[in-house]
Amino acid sequence: MATEQTVMEKIVSLCKRRGFVFQSSEIYGGIGGFWDYGPLGVELKRNLKDAWWKDMVTGHDDVTPPEGLPSAYSMVGLDCSIIMHPAVWKASGHYDLFHDMLVDCRTCKARFRADQIPTLQCPHKPSKHPGEHTTCDLTEPREFNLMFKTFIGALHDPSSEAYLRPETAQGIFVNFKNVYTTARVKVPFGIAQIGKSFRNEITPRNFTFRSREFEQMEIEFFCHPDQSPAWYAYWRDRRYDWYVSLGLSSDRLRLRDHDAAELSHYSCGTADVEYAFPFLAEGEFGELEGIAHRSDFDLRSHSEGKLIRDGDGFAVERDQEGNPRHAGSGKDLSYFDEATQQRFVPHVIEPSAGADRATLAFLCEAYTEDMIPDEKGVPQGRVVLKLHPRLAPIKVAVFPLIKKDGMPEMAAEIYRDLKQQWNVFYDLKGSIGRRYRRQDESGTPFCVTVDHDSLRDGTVTVRDRDTTVQSRVPVKELISYLAERLS
Ligand code: GAP
Repeated sequence: MATEQTVMEKIVSLCKRRGFVFQSSEIYGGIGGFWDYGPLGVELKRNLKDAWWKDMVTGHDDVTPPEGLPSAYSMVGLDCSIIMHPAVWKASGHYDLFHDMLVDCRTCKARFRADQIPTLQCPHKPSKHPGEHTTCDLTEPREFNLMFKTFIGALHDPSSEAYLRPETAQGIFVNFKNVYTTARVKVPFGIAQIGKSFRNEITPRNFTFRSREFEQMEIEFFCHPDQSPAWYAYWRDRRYDWYVSLGLSSDRLRLRDHDAAELSHYSCGTADVEYAFPFLAEGEFGELEGIAHRSDFDLRSHSEGKLIRDGDGFAVERDQEGNPRHAGSGKDLSYFDEATQQRFVPHVIEPSAGADRATLAFLCEAYTEDMIPDEKGVPQGRVVLKLHPRLAPIKVAVFPLIKKDGMPEMAAEIYRDLKQQWNVFYDLKGSIGRRYRRQDESGTPFCVTVDHDSLRDGTVTVRDRDTTVQSRVPVKELISYLAERLS
């Protein structure tokens, strides 16, 4: 039986072979922590992001209150710049606090994240952990800020330093007032954003799971402080259910509440949606998404200056002269509720997901090896990606059985019709069995074949990827037949 490690190796190899994911700059030997999505990968990841945007933003019902919650809420979108004013990262706490502890080996010059050493291999002696071999000579752990630094303009001096954003969230906070004064939304409402984030991870690893450049899908949900516990519980459950609705099985997926020691400096309650990735040891889970109750930390930071914990709340951190250590914008980011005539700083619930991690989880979940009979009825092993139809890169493949007798022409006409609705692939190369296998490995839910009967009676066979059952369907009913099964 295949071990879990070999399953992961097979998934990585399938991703390369079928054009889902390539190593960045591969022809130059690659570059650690950066990945490129190939023709199938880009469709899969785009379908995932589109499903998130549709389910969270454009498809959201702004009028009906969710069951058991105090009111309905609005959802709107935003697309912010990657480089922002450096003061943003000082007020948010990233400049001072967004670091990992780093350890170097003076002997082999390898670099490790201090908290990962118990799980890492010594480069000289892989059966041991760093520091355990006689020749290891590790430095004391020291802080390493994860933000990528760059320079704005021609001068490369401290006054022109800027950072690539390490999260999309801050762009939403600094636009809070712009959005609520222009979009005619009332608290509670959410702002969603999908975009690239960058972290100079010390040890990027596990394929795309920990990368240096990745995409986030974040919502900042603004609500009245008194209602924030109810909204936190709502988002926690809603986000977990979203992964299940797209096909992650509940025995590999879990929702885990952080204990107090794990909470981020801003958070007064966080839960993670986690998935048992095949590269992890039995019983271990990796984070797909964090749902955090961030209180009024972010809006107050960007108004008053960088905050630090003060008892149960937060206070502006001050220098020796009593000035804010990192000043905020000085702008009033409170909200006036016309209905209650009350002014308050909204609390924030943040569901923050990684598009690359989710893509990887859906790929791992979909990867299946089974046995099916070939054309002669002999059982053959196959690899199939059982992706949810909403995520599948190609929805339908169309084949002429043979390259003559008008079959290619009829198949091309069907292809052109279906292409108006979905991403459809036309293939006339190789035996029909090989064409099915290629589509199984690509995760294509349906294959349509034009054969001799099609020319006579205007029907085609539609093969279901998961069951391999073939049904005879009249061409004029094909679009409705597929639409019912793909939706
Ligand atoms: N705004 C909150 C925030 O950024 P986070 O837990 O640091 O929270 C949110 O990141 C999500 O972004 C994670 O759950 C994960 O899916 C994704 N993510 C974070 N670092 C990543 C990395 N190095 N590579 C790939 N995805 C990452």
